[in-house]
Amino acid sequence: MAKPKHILLIIGGGIAAYKAAELIRLIRKSGMTVRCVLTEAGAQFVTPMTLAALSENEVHTTLWSLKDETEMGHIQLSREADLIVICPATANLLAKMAGGIADDLATTVLLATDTQVLAVPAMNVRMWQHAATQRNIAQLRTDGIIVMHPDEGDMACGEYGPGRLPDPEAIMAEITHRLDEDRAAELPDKNELGPNPLDGQPAFAPDQHRPLHGKHVLVTAGPTHEPIDPVRYIANRSSGRQGFAIAAAAAEAGARVTLVAGPVHLPTPAGVMRIDVETAREMNQAVQGALPAHVAVMVAAVADWRADSPAEQKIKKEGAAPAPLQLTENPDILAGLARHEQRPGLLIGFAAETEKIDQHAKAKLEKKSCDWIVANDVSGPVGDSVMGGADNSVHIVTRNGSEIWERLPKTEVARRLVARIGEELANA
Ligand code: CTP
Repeated sequence: MAKPKHILLIIGGGIAAYKAAELIRLIRKSGMTVRCVLTEAGAQFVTPMTLAALSENEVHTTLWSLKDETEMGHIQLSREADLIVICPATANLLAKMAGGIADDLATTVLLATDTQVLAVPAMNVRMWQHAATQRNIAQLRTDGIIVMHPDEGDMACGEYGPGRLPDPEAIMAEITHRLDEDRAAELPDKNELGPNPLDGQPAFAPDQHRPLHGKHVLVTAGPTHEPIDPVRYIANRSSGRQGFAIAAAAAEAGARVTLVAGPVHLPTPAGVMRIDVETAREMNQAVQGALPAHVAVMVAAVADWRADSPAEQKIKKEGAAPAPLQLTENPDILAGLARHEQRPGLLIGFAAETEKIDQHAKAKLEKKSCDWIVANDVSGPVGDSVMGGADNSVHIVTRNGSEIWERLPKTEVARRLVARIGEELANA
C-alpha cells in the first residue's frame, strides 16, 4: 500500500490560527499525517498542546532546539513533507517569504525547502489590499508558491472585505488537489509498467495522439486588474474561458503547459501549471519567468493602461468634480516576447476586431512581430458577446493568408487551434 501523504503545517500568528485545529482534524480524517510548526506569534492564539494532541505529533516552535537539530533538523522537517501548508499565512510571513528572510523556524524551513508550498492568507482587509502585500503575493506566485485567495466577508476586526481565511473544507480540497497533481506527475514511466499491453498491436504514430508531447506551451488568459486605489481598479469583460480552454487542450495533447491567469474564477485545467496574477506588469514578469517555451499563445485581454500612481488610501468624493485619473501605458507582453532572446518558436497573439478583420489582424501581426493572430470577430450585439460568452468566431491570420472558422464553442476553437499548432510544429 502507498505511504500516506504527509503535510507540514506552519501556523502563523492571527486570529484565524484557531481554524488550523479544524484543518488538522480534516487532514487526519483523510488518512494523511501532519506535523506542525508554530510561530511565536501563532502561539499567542493556539497552544502547542492543542496542536500536538490533534496531530499526534510533536509541535516545533524554535530553531534553537538542540534536540530537534540532532533528531529532526529544519531541513528534515521540510524534506519528509509532501506538501507544506501555511495556515494562516499572515502579511508578515508572506513579506518575509517574498524577501527571502529566514529569522525563525518557520521562515527558515520555507527558505530551505524545494517542496511545494501552499499559503492560505488571512489578515485584515486593508493589510490584504495594501500595495506591499499585493506585490509580495505576486512575487511569491512568480516564485511558484501557491497562494489561495482569501474569502470575503465580515472580519474579526469589524471590517468587511477580502481577507478571511477560507473554510477548512476549501483548504482541504486545495491540499488534495495539489497532491493529486503531484501524483499524476509521479506516475511511473513506461519502463516500470511491466509488459506493454499494446505489444503485438499494429503500430500507430504517437504524434497522432499526443502531438505536443515534449513541448512547453505558455498561455496567458483573462483580464488584468489595474488598481486605482485600494478598492477600485480598471478591468475589462474578459472571462478567461478561451485561454483556459486552450491551456486544457494543449495539456490533453501532451504538452507541459504554463497558464498565466489574470483574476478569473475558473478551475485550473487538469495537468496545467497555473500562475495567478492581477496586473499587466505581474503578467509580464510571470510570462518572462516561464521562458523558454516552444509555443506562446497570448489570449489575455491585457489592460493597455494603468493608473499612473494608484492612491494608497481610498479616493473620497470631494466637491463636484471627480478626481482626474492619470494613465500610463502598460508593457506590451506579446511584443516583448517577440523581441526576447528566448522568443518562442511559435508566437500567437489574439485580437478583438469589429470590422476589416483580416486587414486589421494582418497589421497587428506585423506590428507585434508574431507568427499568427487569432482574430475574434466581436461585431455581434453586446448580449451575444464573444467576450465572456461560451462561443467564439475567429479568423486565423498567418503570414501565408487567413482562414475563417465558423462560430464554435470556445472548447472546440481551442482543440482546433491546438491541432493546427501540432501540425505547424511537426512541419517545422
Ligand atoms: N497584449 C499584450 N500586452 C498588452 C496588450 C496586448 O500581450 N499590453 C496581447 C494580447 O494578449 C493579445 C494581443 O496583444 O494577444 C492584442 O493586441 P492589442 O493591440 O491589445 O489588440 P486589441 O485588444 O485588439 O486592441 P486594439 O485593436 O485596440 O489595439
